[in-house]
Amino acid sequence: MKAMGKLAIFGGAPVMPQGIQRTRWPRWTAAEMEELARVLTQEQIFGSDAPQVALLEQEWRRRVGVDYCAAVSSGTAALHTACGRPAWSRRRGAGPAYSFMATALAVLHQGAVPVFVDVQRHSHNLDPAQVARHVTPRTKALIVVHLFGLPADMDEIKRGGREARYCRHRRLRPRAGSDLQR
Ligand SMILES: Cc1ncc(COP(=O)(O)O)c(C=O)c1O
Repeated sequence: MKAMGKLAIFGGAPVMPQGIQRTRWPRWTAAEMEELARVLTQEQIFGSDAPQVALLEQEWRRRVGVDYCAAVSSGTAALHTACGRPAWSRRRGAGPAYSFMATALAVLHQGAVPVFVDVQRHSHNLDPAQVARHVTPRTKALIVVHLFGLPADMDEIKRGGREARYCRHRRLRPRAGSDLQR
């Protein structure tokens, strides 16, 4: 393995050249801009009565095959909503060690302790072998993140949860709407 030189922050040569053109994300197409303008000019644009929100909930329910769906404003809000149930006191919420901070914050917000479970090198997602080691009687939930569009290995993660035998969250589901998961 090549020895690492001086870090760029200490005056070494940066790995990323200065002024490199970064990919802009997200990219909106003209059709999306048009649709956005159409939505923004509607009378009501947020809340469960807004036509576009109601349509999203209805289509998502159908796609995922569930009876209820509540649209929220962001991924962070979704995590808080999912964790927002009572009786978390002195409990733990396990999640991947490599993720966005919202994963751990949703657990902290419930007054519980986030437990960081190591991830796999190749997928950056929860390592199923580690799940069984970290799920204990105090674990209230295991939060599975499908990072960077790579689906976590749900079959193995569920097996790990079952092996731990304590896992209350028995009905771990694949990421809603994923075509890659069975
Ligand atoms: C893995 C993960 N979870 C949650 C979030 C939070 O999503 P949002 O920015 O929509 O609140 C992000 C955002 O990047 C994320 O990468």
